[in-house]
Amino acid sequence: MMLAAFSWVAFDRGGVLALVFLGLTLLGVRDTRQSRHSVLRNYPVIGHLRFLLEYIRPEMRQYFIEGDNEAAPFSRQQRSLVYQRAKGEPDKRPFGTQIDVQAIGYEWINHSMHPTTLPSHDFRITVGADRAQPYSASIFNISAMSFGALSANAVLALNEGARRGGFAHDTGEGSISRHHRVHGGDLIWEIGSGYFGCREADGSFSEARFAENARLPQVKMVELKLSQGAKPGHGGVLPGPKVTPEIAEARGVPVGVDCVSPASHSAFSTPIELLRFIERLRELSGGKPTGFKLCIGHPWEWFAIAKAMLETGIVPDFIVVDGAEGGTGAAPLEFTDHVGAPLQEGLLLVHNTLVGLNLRERVRIGCAGKVISAFDIARAMALGADWCNSARGFMFALGCIQAHSCHTGNCPTGVTTQDPLRQRALDVPTKSQRVFNYHQQTLHALKELVQAAGLNHPNEITAAHIVRRHPSRA
Ligand SMILES: Cc1cc2nc3c(=O)[nH]c(=O)nc-3n(C[C@H](O)[C@H](O)[C@H](O)COP(=O)(O)O)c2cc1C
Repeated sequence: MMLAAFSWVAFDRGGVLALVFLGLTLLGVRDTRQSRHSVLRNYPVIGHLRFLLEYIRPEMRQYFIEGDNEAAPFSRQQRSLVYQRAKGEPDKRPFGTQIDVQAIGYEWINHSMHPTTLPSHDFRITVGADRAQPYSASIFNISAMSFGALSANAVLALNEGARRGGFAHDTGEGSISRHHRVHGGDLIWEIGSGYFGCREADGSFSEARFAENARLPQVKMVELKLSQGAKPGHGGVLPGPKVTPEIAEARGVPVGVDCVSPASHSAFSTPIELLRFIERLRELSGGKPTGFKLCIGHPWEWFAIAKAMLETGIVPDFIVVDGAEGGTGAAPLEFTDHVGAPLQEGLLLVHNTLVGLNLRERVRIGCAGKVISAFDIARAMALGADWCNSARGFMFALGCIQAHSCHTGNCPTGVTTQDPLRQRALDVPTKSQRVFNYHQQTLHALKELVQAAGLNHPNEITAAHIVRRHPSRA
């Protein structure tokens, strides 16, 4: 009798353990097969802890999963907004404002007593109107991020989202990879100081290779990168072990050898030479809009470029102003935090200089630097931008949880890794839909702001529409 009771208890314990084990195994299988959550695909079973913490108390997610809130570049509210829009969930908020409208620095857009009604949120701007192949660009596009910094699946999902939404996908300086070409979304081809995709074996610029890529119908514009807000004047290295055959193929460099982007260009060294180089790129591309991207440093160096435009009569079709607050795969802390002008100051300087020289009508201005919401776009437009780019906004749409491991290859959501297993977690059909949704819903929200302000296009938003409470007015 005693023996029978004992064996029942033993069976009970063993049975329960077996059932738990079976349950967890089934959960694990389900996690790896579902496509909604990249974290669960990479961390089956244990990844539920993240969602449990989020459910019990959303703030905890930041401490357990996403690092300390104060150190995180984007607040939970900003990321939630992107996640909601990307997932197609309602982005309305209950109960009222969640920010302190009495605070110094509070900013708003003035609404009108005569709101407009607009037929569409597909706001566009023509770049290079008098060139052979002008481009009708959306006013919200994917900022430069290279294949190499991003995984193949991330590039595939971004490009398919861009194709569906009719907006542009900037290649980043890592050039055009095979993954950029699968879906056929519009590309802005970025040329950095490493001349990837258009270089000779010694790293110098190759006209023939440039023309070959630039003439691809999928390439709509060419962007020469002078600097990037997160690390201006720094350059970069993709270490040899990370230079896979696919990356080497896209960049035109040897496999497994350090891939260097020098801090400055070798194809030109003066402002006049820069403009002549841009003109040459435009010719070689068959007349596609050609411009440059920079973060403002010494103002006089920018003024020298502007002066060279007047002297030579050569103008870039566009300039993209990047703010010091912009993102990167990796950069020294001092550079991310203390080098280069922030977006608002840089943008205003470029806009005002071009207005003063009577060149503003001929040069379009794009901008990037923590542009996430429709209000961020409206604010940039008020300061002179014609369009905005977002890098990390679209990374959030891909499922990035701001884990700060882009440089380690261990990205938990498969966005910034070359590890084939980790990037499998990023399901391309699901995430391309989210990229599309985020773009659509942000522009829809912008349409509502523009309507409320009584305007017909975001490019009618001026400094007079945006107000900020300043300490001197408090
Ligand atoms: C992972 C990553 C990779 C990037 N790679 C490039 C690049 O190759 N070329 C470039 O001009 N900017 C690059 N950037 C900068 C962005 O294009 C953009 O200018 C900057 O991040 C500001 O946008 P954000 O605040 O929306 O991220 C990169 C940014 C990130 C986050």
